[in-house]
Amino acid sequence: MTPSSSRPRVLQNLRLMPALEARLASAFDMHRLTDEADPKAFLAAHGAAFTGLVTSAAVGVDAALIDALPKLRVISSFGVGLDKLDLAAAQRRGIAVGYTPDVLNDCVADLAFGLMLDAARGLSAADRYVRRGAWLGAGTPASAPFPLGRKVSGARLGIVGLGRIGSTIARRASGFDMSVRYHNRRPVEGAPWPHEPSLLALAEWADYLVIIAAGGAGTRHLVDAEVLDALGPRGFLINVSRGSVIDEAALVRALVDKRIAGAGLDVFEHEPQVPQELLALDNVVLLPHIASGTVETRQAMADRVFDNLQLFLSEGRLVSAAPPPAG
Ligand code: NAP
Ligand code: 8YV
Repeated sequence: MTPSSSRPRVLQNLRLMPALEARLASAFDMHRLTDEADPKAFLAAHGAAFTGLVTSAAVGVDAALIDALPKLRVISSFGVGLDKLDLAAAQRRGIAVGYTPDVLNDCVADLAFGLMLDAARGLSAADRYVRRGAWLGAGTPASAPFPLGRKVSGARLGIVGLGRIGSTIARRASGFDMSVRYHNRRPVEGAPWPHEPSLLALAEWADYLVIIAAGGAGTRHLVDAEVLDALGPRGFLINVSRGSVIDEAALVRALVDKRIAGAGLDVFEHEPQVPQELLALDNVVLLPHIASGTVETRQAMADRVFDNLQLFLSEGRLVSAAPPPAG
């Protein structure tokens, strides 16, 4: 490590966007744990030097890392998901946790619609059809015409998780003349859409079921074989939340057996691993967790990561503080 300066020492446990790394390095004494050949030994020798930690929703922070940083005061996470952050361990030590809610609502909601349209109309599959030359021979025994899709406008949209992003998706749906209902544990006060207390009933009603509930232990496998069967052979499943919310093995079976019409998936239970069986199916769209991945939104997230850290280390407060752990 470089000799101590008067600037706060901040550890990062992943590589960040270069512009964010540069901005952080202009204000703090930054150190990348991922550059260490032996991170455990590094933490044992230098862990007490760090007051700040930068992470992301994808990588997170566990209790062992928090224990290895005895002077840690603040964690600033790139992303809104809190499922990989041990909030209870942070709370026990009085460590503040900042995250990046709201700034990504638009792009995640946009992508949910992108997946809905792609799964229903077969955009990615049609693109593959053109590229392999199948259109040229359409109608011949060697190449069937491209199959008809399903209509999105005017259809029934069920939203699982009417939070910040879920509400943004619901608002987008009015432009598609869709009817919207949602399932949360509690109805959202003032929401103009009907709350459906039963997830099974919502799945039975919906043509498109969009999953955007928080991840973590409380929602693990919330969408199981029974929910998928309630959605049925005319229903599409869209997941822009976390892979863990869906029983992925049950989803693979439902797609292979065509017990649901199709799916659009941005997230997976063991990402970046995607179940092999899905790769050959045209009724599923597979994306590499890109829902917030636009220049504008990632910049806004990076700004919030920086602002949370700077504000806390200078004034002891955060722009966006993570809620306390559940329970
Ligand atoms: P949010 O405002 O906290 O909304 C989460 C919603 O989930 C709440 O409405 C909550 O309602 C609901 N929920 C929690 N547990 C539930 C349960 N057991 N059953 C039904 N509903 C439940 O969060 P957000 O900002 O909208 O973000 C939602 C999630 O999207 C994040 O946690 C993250 O995992 C994911 N995300 C993914 C991407 C991506 O790149 N794909 C990007 C951003 C966010 P109740 O508490 O009333 O149940
Ligand atoms: C990001 C996300 O892709 O905010 C979240 O919870 O899943 C996404 O916005 C992720 O944080 C990148 O690390």
